Amino acid sequence: MKLAIIPSIIARSQKELEERTHKLSFIKPTYMHLDVMDGTFVKRTSLEFPFIVPKSYACEAHLMVRNPKGWLVKNHAQIDSFIVHYESETHLHECIKLAKHYKKKIGVALNPETDDEDSTQYLKLIDKVLIMTVHPGKYGSPFLPEMLEKIRHIRKLAPKLDIEVDGGVTPETLKLCKHAGANQFVIGSFLQNASDIKVAWNKLKNSLV
Ligand code: DX5
Ligand code: ZN
Repeated sequence: MKLAIIPSIIARSQKELEERTHKLSFIKPTYMHLDVMDGTFVKRTSLEFPFIVPKSYACEAHLMVRNPKGWLVKNHAQIDSFIVHYESETHLHECIKLAKHYKKKIGVALNPETDDEDSTQYLKLIDKVLIMTVHPGKYGSPFLPEMLEKIRHIRKLAPKLDIEVDGGVTPETLKLCKHAGANQFVIGSFLQNASDIKVAWNKLKNSLV
């Protein structure tokens, strides 16, 4: 499976989005993970303003919102792939159809308390599963080791599907997730709070091998 480290961005203004993406320019990731929060699906907000993604980045949008379908319609032009929560209020099949209509990739995210059995009906229809390894909503929440079993189970059910983990990922927890079967790793605070982002990036890359 192809392995990828994907930095995440939480931003409350265009200025913050630009500052955080500028920070990433020192490590040149191939993909960026944009955390979208509407203040109701999760308490905080992120990318709730009319934002512009800096052109040099391909990005996926992680939609922690009540109405992912509406967001997808409004913002599909500057986004390459979408991740919709199983727990959101939209009919997931409609989001999957819509993303395919726009020729975008689509994934389904599972909150820690969501049983992985619930997602099995979607596995054949989507490009990835995102397993939340924290309770969603902010940078810096503690990694939930109980999620390793969920990763193992989904990997058994879908040997070739991309499995991404999001939340509390550091070089140490990355290794655990990789060993359990994940192949894509979203990184927030470990990069954004690093005093030297290049050193932090190299540590993450070294933990992939
Ligand atoms: C959490 C977001 C994550 C967040 C990860 O709700 O979905 O993508 O940015 O940040 P860390 O790596 O600090 O847990
Ligand atoms: Zn995320």
